[in-house]
Amino acid sequence: MKELNPTDPIGQNLIKLISNVCFSVFVFSVLIFTVIAITYQPPDPWESSRALTKVFTEVENATFKTDSSILKTGEDIATAPVASPIGSLVPITEASIEKSEEELEKNLTLKSGCEDLHVINCSDPKVLIAIQRFNLRTFKSIAFLDYQTPVNGSKPDECDVAWRFRNKKERSWRKYRDFRRFKMGFNDDCSYKVIHPGRWHSGLNARRPRSRINATGNGQKAKIAPSVRDNEINDTIPVMGSDSAFRRGKYLYYSRGGDYCKGMNHYLWSFLCALGEAQYLNRTFVMDLSICLASTYTQTNKDEEGKDFRFYFDFEHLKEVSSIVDEGDFLGDWKRWDKTHKAKIPVRKVANYKVTPMQLRKDKSSIIWRQFDAPEPENYWYRVCEGPAAKYIERPWHAIWKSKRLMNIVSAISGSMDWDFDAVHVVRGDKSQNKALWPNLDADTSPDALVTKLQGMIEPWRNVYIATNEPFYNYFDKLRSHYKIHLLDDYKYLWGNTSEWYNETTLLNGGRPVGFDGYMRVEVDTEVLYRAKTRVETFYNLTRDCKDGINMCSTG
Ligand SMILES: *[C@@H]1O[C@H](CO)[C@@H](O)[C@H](O)[C@H]1NC(C)=O
Ligand SMILES: *[C@@H]1O[C@H](CO)[C@@H](O)[C@H](O)[C@H]1NC(C)=O
Ligand SMILES: *[C@@H]1O[C@H](CO)[C@@H](O)[C@H](O)[C@H]1NC(C)=O
Ligand SMILES: *[C@@H]1O[C@H](CO)[C@@H](O)[C@H](O)[C@H]1NC(C)=O
Ligand SMILES: *[C@@H]1O[C@H](CO)[C@@H](O)[C@H](O)[C@H]1NC(C)=O
Ligand SMILES: *[C@@H]1O[C@H](CO)[C@@H](O)[C@H](O)[C@H]1NC(C)=O
Ligand SMILES: *[C@@H]1O[C@H](CO)[C@@H](O)[C@H](O)[C@H]1NC(C)=O
Ligand SMILES: *[C@@H]1O[C@H](CO)[C@@H](O)[C@H](O)[C@H]1NC(C)=O
Ligand SMILES: *[C@@H]1O[C@H](CO)[C@@H](O)[C@H](O)[C@H]1NC(C)=O
Ligand SMILES: *[C@@H]1O[C@H](CO)[C@@H](O)[C@H](O)[C@H]1NC(C)=O
Repeated sequence: MKELNPTDPIGQNLIKLISNVCFSVFVFSVLIFTVIAITYQPPDPWESSRALTKVFTEVENATFKTDSSILKTGEDIATAPVASPIGSLVPITEASIEKSEEELEKNLTLKSGCEDLHVINCSDPKVLIAIQRFNLRTFKSIAFLDYQTPVNGSKPDECDVAWRFRNKKERSWRKYRDFRRFKMGFNDDCSYKVIHPGRWHSGLNARRPRSRINATGNGQKAKIAPSVRDNEINDTIPVMGSDSAFRRGKYLYYSRGGDYCKGMNHYLWSFLCALGEAQYLNRTFVMDLSICLASTYTQTNKDEEGKDFRFYFDFEHLKEVSSIVDEGDFLGDWKRWDKTHKAKIPVRKVANYKVTPMQLRKDKSSIIWRQFDAPEPENYWYRVCEGPAAKYIERPWHAIWKSKRLMNIVSAISGSMDWDFDAVHVVRGDKSQNKALWPNLDADTSPDALVTKLQGMIEPWRNVYIATNEPFYNYFDKLRSHYKIHLLDDYKYLWGNTSEWYNETTLLNGGRPVGFDGYMRVEVDTEVLYRAKTRVETFYNLTRDCKDGINMCSTG
């Protein structure tokens, strides 16, 4: 501290003092702000990810434990619907219906309406308007995007109509199809009204056939598969193209690590770390689309290799929002280049995860190849994102959406209940057997406890969907005398060998049928649960036990 000089005017010293104080405050606040900025991390979709991060950073032998009956991904966490890259359709509203109605009135000044009473003309635009209005008022959770012109149903007073929609609870731009059969009638003023809407996918005549009926050489009609294939899915693997395109690229390549055949949560945690590093380094990530499904999710109870990423996740979305290339394609191009050119492709091999992404930022090599040869747990991909790197690498959660093919199943299940259902998430499995960590869970989710507790939360005879990891189908039978109970297994036909899903995954899998495994079940259960009107959770609503075990409620 400077000594006060008595010859100086007092004011000057005061000003000096004040400015010193101000400067300190300024420095201090900048410091605080910087600390906040550095430690700020965008929220992860997993409710217990904070606890997870702690587990991963503090315990050497990290194993993945999240609530294995629920899986949040990008489309569940975005704050606003993500816009379509192709240009999105504007949802139909009451106002837009009125507008087209007015337009119609103007054109039809001659026809007053009542002369054709009792004849339903499905191609009359007023029929469509009546149906649009009905849908808008009935299915409040749905954003209707576009309708096709109604066609005749099976009876004179029926019309079939198809449309595309989004569920307002899903925050992606993906569109789904429905086609229903409506029984139509007239109001007193001779305008059309809907007397009765058909069920989900009941409007068979409005279903757009994939291929048109064609006559064979014998004059017989060819058997056409009545397919409703979702031709909006384009998850073909992009190919790199020319040698020179390959040479110009900058790649980040991860060898297979200890993550292989671990649980799917572990897989995602690791994969998103790798993808995050690629984005940080502004490189194309070399991706292995072949996944090993851990035994906890398989029917055989053994790890199963060779599962396609696209069975579970939306590859179309991933390739749109991030730069990736298929591993097989990449390795082929690399080998070919090194064979045909004198100058090899510059490669930087990184043997240890302790080499941070920040250290690699300046590296000019075409390929950065991270190898994970160390013994477990030194060979997990996610370790790259530990420590100081955590402040620079953001896991791109928004890049992971669930497979559209599975989401079609979700739409079919919720649509068949007309989106008017409540849901209960019942966590049992290993947790209910672990009395040390979850002392009350088993009792609180017993059939009798469920009957008692749900009666206070859900109106009698509602549709109730139960998302659960309880394997015994009849476990919930007691609830059937109070509610219309729906379980995933009630919808087996949606993935059975006559289903659209079966056809499409078989095609994706080179002609070999794909089983509907435990992980797919979790994904579908999760999304149906999220579409319910009233949602009852095991933790918070059914039991006092904590989600992550005894005394862990605060970390939830
Ligand atoms: C770490 O894992 C190994 C192998 O699974 C096991 O033998 C060891 O006991 C574990 N260590 C700790 C601290 O959990
Ligand atoms: C009404 O007539 C105008 C011009 O005659 C036409 O442009 C418009 O498309 C018609 N609207 C409807 C809903 O048919
Ligand atoms: C049905 O409505 C369409 C469109 O308004 C019209 O072109 C057609 O002639 C009508 N058919 C009958 C049988 O009235
Ligand atoms: C639809 O039904 C009406 C009468 O019910 C009939 O006049 C019309 O020809 C039918 N249209 C088609 C395309 O079959
Ligand atoms: C119908 O069959 C003929 C010959 O078999 C073929 O040339 C034509 O493209 C087919 N049309 C459709 C719509 O499939
Ligand atoms: C599918 O997407 C790829 C780009 O990933 C594009 O090249 C291809 O044309 C698309 N196919 C269709 C049928 O839209
Ligand atoms: C990322 O790389 C591309 C091409 O490799 C380049 O055009 C772009 O400027 C880079 N962006 C950043 C932020 O480094
Ligand atoms: C479908 O599965 C059923 C029962 O598992 C079987 O009887 C039937 O032959 C299968 N159909 C086809 C086309 O694979
Ligand atoms: C699936 O494919 C089979 C054989 O190609 C066909 O008979 C069946 O109708 C298809 N099912 C669906 C729902 O597309
Ligand atoms: C479940 O618990 C949460 C948190 O306590 C509460 O907000 C919600 O209303 C409860 N749900 C029902 C259906 O009672």
